[in-house]
Amino acid sequence: MRRLVLLAIAIAAVGLAAAGEAPIAFPEGFRTWAHVSSGLFGPANPAAPKYEGLHAIYANPAALEGYRTGKWPDGAVIVFDQWTADKPGADALGQGQRKFIDVMVRDSRRYAATGGWGYTEFAWPGRDRVTAIEDNAAKACGGCHAAKAPGGDHVFSTFKD
Ligand code: HEC
Repeated sequence: MRRLVLLAIAIAAVGLAAAGEAPIAFPEGFRTWAHVSSGLFGPANPAAPKYEGLHAIYANPAALEGYRTGKWPDGAVIVFDQWTADKPGADALGQGQRKFIDVMVRDSRRYAATGGWGYTEFAWPGRDRVTAIEDNAAKACGGCHAAKAPGGDHVFSTFKD
């Protein structure tokens, strides 16, 4: 019995190694990172309905260095935090519900195929990883970031003091 258990553990370990590295981790504590910028997309924006509402962008300390120098070191993580927009009163917009977060992680070796950036998404409620997006990130995310980000190494937003 004990041998069987050991064998099962050995097979599981080989399986994990064969499956490659772990998926991108949830960026715990990102709400306390530096706020980079905010934006609002209305219903007529081509990115609606997915990106309709308010978003805020956050950078961890390594990513903040990237915003300062234009070169993002490995370990940089950027979070795009998407919310619905509420209308709490006349001619006013406020924060509604969180819809999802989009995440970019810098690892030049692991994500060499997508310009050194890994992409993923966690959806609310439940902050569940959107596996289809992570598996298909080069097309779903990286294509647009690679082609259109204005000279900023796949990053669109800029940090304004
Ligand atoms: C059609 C183009 C396009 C696609 C596809 C796209 N993005 Fe973006 N992304 C943008 C733009 C434009 C911004 C800047 C928004 C702003 O500055 O307010 C942005 C911003 C971001 C940011 C903040 C860092 C930055 O570049 O400014 C992250 C993180 C991000 N996107 C992740 C993702 C992920 C993950 C996916 C795939 C699920 C994705 N994006 C798909 C255009 C795109």
